[in-house]
Amino acid sequence: MAETKVLFVCLGNICRSPLAEALFIKHARQQGHHLQFLADSAGTSDYHTGEGPDKRTIRNAGIHGLELNHRARQFTGQDFVRFDHIIAMDRSNYNHIAGMAANQVDLLKIRMMREFDPQNPGHDVPDPWFGGEQGFEEVFHILDRSTEILMQWLLKKS
Ligand code: 4NP
Repeated sequence: MAETKVLFVCLGNICRSPLAEALFIKHARQQGHHLQFLADSAGTSDYHTGEGPDKRTIRNAGIHGLELNHRARQFTGQDFVRFDHIIAMDRSNYNHIAGMAANQVDLLKIRMMREFDPQNPGHDVPDPWFGGEQGFEEVFHILDRSTEILMQWLLKKS
């Protein structure tokens, strides 16, 4: 079976999307599906290109036993070719990516992360960048449950 390629996208690619990538891989591993998926993340901006994740994201993930291995990069039009599914963290990210879609096939690859959140569907994953530790903890739990549901949805589709 061909692997399903999933790209998580936020603004800076140092807080939300690298965490979503790592949590998605964690769920895939735990449930024995890691060979079926390839996950990556990117930012709509180039503000942090080449940098590792934000220190606060690393610390919060570490508290939950999760290690992050990612260098920030900017989303490009090529990502529509390379990935089957593109998951935006908030409406602004969605609009940015949708504006780069070349056609309807590209557009249909994009979904919002919280479409898969059973507790609060349809809303943005809040940007924790300007807030305190509590924001990072909240984002962790939103992404932990949303990425698991996303993975189950993808398994049903394949
Ligand atoms: P992220 O968070 O989009 O979840 O990676 C942010 C990181 C950096 C900035 C904004 C949001 N920034 O303005 O530099």
